[in-house]
Amino acid sequence: MSILKLARMGNPVLRMPARPVDDPSAPEIRALVSDMVETMVDAGGIGLEAPQVHVPLRVIVFCVPAARVSGNPGDMPVDLTAIVNPVLDPEGGEKELDWEGCLSIPGLRGAVPRFKTIRYAGFDLNGERIECVATGFHARVMQHEADHLDGVIYLERMTDMRLLAFTEEAARFPIDLTAYAADGRL
Ligand code: NI
Repeated sequence: MSILKLARMGNPVLRMPARPVDDPSAPEIRALVSDMVETMVDAGGIGLEAPQVHVPLRVIVFCVPAARVSGNPGDMPVDLTAIVNPVLDPEGGEKELDWEGCLSIPGLRGAVPRFKTIRYAGFDLNGERIECVATGFHARVMQHEADHLDGVIYLERMTDMRLLAFTEEAARFPIDLTAYAADGRL
């Protein structure tokens, strides 16, 4: 296991569509996932995809911490999970606004509209198919990570750049998102 170097915004690997993995159960994918998990934990992240460690493949690792969920069905804590070749579809058109950060854009926070509920599918490291309906923070994490696989970063999904801030300043000067969510910009 190794801690890998994180790609930061501006690195072309974050702008190219990642390639599908031919065999999700291949030993080299398991080794990659192991290194990605170690890298993510070291960096204090909750989601990471292979392009963020300079490997342009469609592999995501993520977890959903208990502190970030509502407890509603589909928005429950999720243990550390690896998913290969994920495909994601919105369920219904409803969006909601909440904060995101990114290990490739350190020090910043932005409020991003995302679909409230999604359905996703992919493969685990045994090559078994995973299918899930997710809502709330779980759905948000998956949308953020799946975007990375298509070369998209969260800044491009923002609709109001007033809601981009340094993390430290956002903590000093909290913004109430309910007012922004109500003004029709989603
Ligand atoms: Ni990110």
